[in-house]
Amino acid sequence: MSSVDAVPAHHHDDARDLLPNAHAPYSNFPVAAIVVTTAGATFAGVNVENAAYGSTICAERMAIGAMVTAGDRSGIAAVVVAGRADDPLSPCGSCRQVIAEFATPATVVSSRGAAGITTTWQIDELLPAAFGPLALHAGTGSSAAPEPPHPPRDSE
Ligand code: THU
Repeated sequence: MSSVDAVPAHHHDDARDLLPNAHAPYSNFPVAAIVVTTAGATFAGVNVENAAYGSTICAERMAIGAMVTAGDRSGIAAVVVAGRADDPLSPCGSCRQVIAEFATPATVVSSRGAAGITTTWQIDELLPAAFGPLALHAGTGSSAAPEPPHPPRDSE
C-alpha cells in the first residue's frame, strides 16, 4: 500500500457521484471507476450487469474500454474505484489484469470507502509478476519487436 495518496480527492467524488448510473440490479453492488491517464485525460465507467450473469462487465474495464476507444494509449496513471461499502474497494482479478495491460511503473489504484478512509495500491502490489505484453512476445518466437502500448514495467 502506498503511504501517499497522490490521487486528487475530486476524482473520488466524481466516481462516487457515478454510482447511481451503474446497472447492478442482480448484485445490488454498484461500482464506478475513473481512469486517469498519464496524458491527463479521465475516462469513467460503471459496472454493467446482465441477466446472463457471466456477461457482466466491471466498472474498471468499462472505463478502460472508453480510454482505448478514445485512442489514449499514454498509459494509466491511476484507477479510482468507488463502491457503497464502508471499506475501500480493490479491483477483481480480471480487472487487475486489464489494468496491468496499460500500466506504467507508477500506476496506482485508489479507493475511498464510504467511511472516508482512502487506500492506494501500486499495481505491482495488486498483481505481482504479471503476465504482460512482453512476456507474450517472448513466447511466440517472433523476431518482430512488439509495439509497446505504454512504457513497459519491470515485470514485463
Ligand atoms: N465489480 C466491479 O465492477 N468491479 C470490481 O472490481 C469488483 C466487482 C462488479 C461486478 C458485479 O457487477 C458486482 O460488482 C458484484 O460482483
